[in-house]
Amino acid sequence: MERKGGNGERNSKRLRNRTVSGAGKKSNISLTVNGKIYELTAGKDFKQSSTLAETLRETLGLTGTKIACDHGGCGACTVLIDEKPILSCITLTVECDGKSIITIEGLEDPVTGNLHPVQQAFVDNTAFQCGFCTPGIIMSTKALLDENPSPTEDDIKEALAGHYCRCISHYEVIDAVKELAAKAKDGRNE
Ligand code: FES
Ligand code: FES
Repeated sequence: MERKGGNGERNSKRLRNRTVSGAGKKSNISLTVNGKIYELTAGKDFKQSSTLAETLRETLGLTGTKIACDHGGCGACTVLIDEKPILSCITLTVECDGKSIITIEGLEDPVTGNLHPVQQAFVDNTAFQCGFCTPGIIMSTKALLDENPSPTEDDIKEALAGHYCRCISHYEVIDAVKELAAKAKDGRNE
C-alpha cells in the first residue's frame, strides 16, 4: 500500500514515524503486555528479526492485533507502547525490551469484563464491518482521547489519518469518537 504524493504519502510517513528506537541484538528481553510481565528468550520465544506483531500473535497468543499490509502502511497492527500508538509490524521485538505494551485485549475491564468505553462506542455506532482494521483504530483512538479527551473533528481525522478501513467505516468511526468526546465534555465518560 505504498503511496506517492498527497495525503497518502503524508499518512504513510505519519504511520512510519510510529516506531520505537533502541534496537540491538539481545538474548533475553522483558516485555510488560497488558500489565503482565513476559520474560522472552531469543531463539526460543522470538528471533532477532521478529516483529512485535509476530511475537504478540505467535508467542503470546494475542491475536487481537492484526497484520494486514505488514509494511507500515495501513495502521491495522497499532498497539500502544509506553502509551503511544506504534506500528507493531515494523517494530522489532528486541526494540521493546523493558517497555509497556497495551493491545486490544488489554482494554476490557479485567474485573467486570465490560468493554472499554472506546470499544463500546464503536459497537454502538456500528463503526466497523469486518473488524479487521478496528483494533488498530481503537488503539489510536484511545491514545488520542488519553491525551485530549475532547478532540475536534479535525483532531480526530488527524489522529486517525493513515488507518485504512477496507469496508469504508470511516464515517461511523468519526461518529463514535465524536460521541466519546461529547460525553467527556459532559463528564459522562468513566
Ligand atoms: S501498518 Fe502494520 S499491518 Fe499495516
Ligand atoms: S472494518 Fe473491515 S477493514 Fe475496517
